[in-house]
Amino acid sequence: MSADRARSALVASLVRDGRVRTPAVRAALETVPRHLFLPALDPGGAYNDVAVPIKVDDGVTVSSVSQPSMVAIMLEQLEAGPGHRVLEIGAGAGWNAALLAELVGPDGAVTTLDIDDDLVAGARANLDAAGFDGVDVVVGDGALGYPPAAPYDRIELTVGSTGVRPEWVAQLAPGGRLLLPLTVRGSQLSVAFAHTAPGRLHSRSVRSCAFVRLRGEGADPGAEVALPDGRWRVQPACGSDDADVPDPRALARATTGAGTDRPVAAAGTVADLWDGLGLWCAVADPGWCGCSARPGRGRTGAVRPRWRPRDAGPGRGRRVRGAAGDPEATVRACGPDGDLAAERLAGLVAGWVDAGRPHAADLRIEAVVPSLAGPGGGAERGSGVDRAGPGTWWWTARVPG
Ligand SMILES: C[S@@+](CC[C@H](N)C(=O)[O-])C[C@H]1O[C@@H](n2cnc3c(N)ncnc32)[C@H](O)[C@@H]1O
Repeated sequence: MSADRARSALVASLVRDGRVRTPAVRAALETVPRHLFLPALDPGGAYNDVAVPIKVDDGVTVSSVSQPSMVAIMLEQLEAGPGHRVLEIGAGAGWNAALLAELVGPDGAVTTLDIDDDLVAGARANLDAAGFDGVDVVVGDGALGYPPAAPYDRIELTVGSTGVRPEWVAQLAPGGRLLLPLTVRGSQLSVAFAHTAPGRLHSRSVRSCAFVRLRGEGADPGAEVALPDGRWRVQPACGSDDADVPDPRALARATTGAGTDRPVAAAGTVADLWDGLGLWCAVADPGWCGCSARPGRGRTGAVRPRWRPRDAGPGRGRRVRGAAGDPEATVRACGPDGDLAAERLAGLVAGWVDAGRPHAADLRIEAVVPSLAGPGGGAERGSGVDRAGPGTWWWTARVPG
């Protein structure tokens, strides 16, 4: 299939799936030739809805051209429009910067930053080849923003951060929008913040996402912990100042012992589990941490949540709908204090069900930079689940500075 036909087909499917909602984002995706930002691929192949790694260091992907559906979701969240001044942190191959340039038009300005000079050189060449020579491509550590072109109406990170940096807030115009993949106690969420008052941000839109993490000064010091058996990775509930790194040996002992199961009343799909219940538990309970199994490392039944219809065999983590009433979830208690922990978890599940099974999209996040907000400029709410209305819940990001 030709590149143009493949691009039209991709955009049509993003519109059908509700990822693209506005004519402006649709027009930008239809106009910018993604294949020119992926010159190593067959042109038609550049329009599959997948992220494409473009730089790998020691087996770890450090840069990629993002997945089109995620890019579309984020551009809808960003609400960039004609005349806006935009800073993108994480240029990669330059594709999203070209989309931003389409959205802001000739009266706007786009600056895109990357920490690696080889990526910046590649992005510059790609943008020139696609006719976007007006985009400014700069080498720099995005943790510091880019003061020379500030203030910005929009700042978009296309790389994950565990916190909101005061530099970004300081460089954001009043009423501007900061969009970033933010780690909220272990879950990465694409959060669009409105700059509502000096040093004060309130989320306007929250979606699940998965991005490579910031390197440089804003790199996350709290990496995942691998348990000694090599099968499990543990993600501490990072992104808040009360994060505890769990003891890997104690967790390994608990996960290899026999457990006792108790059913809890909660309907479940994979999305419910990750975007809903898991996030709710992480926000509500500072003792929460997430465990995930490495693919191909044998059976993983010990602490894996099981979601299955009442009359079916063990679930495999897929979407399930019970033919005979509500699907069933099981909490498994492991280790010496397992019963207490299971009781606590069952309470969290009940709280989530009682709140109407909210998802990431229902979370509201507030971030305050004390030094910019001035005297009395503290957070309006504490961290944790604080019901602000049916299906709405809050989390407060602690911002240094
Ligand atoms: C997912 S890629 C960006 C995708 C890109 N915007 C696109 O159009 O598809 C993330 C990028 O962030 C960059 N990055 C990582 N840490 C950075 C930092 N501290 N400052 C600037 N860029 C950084 C990486 O080098 C990588 O190119």
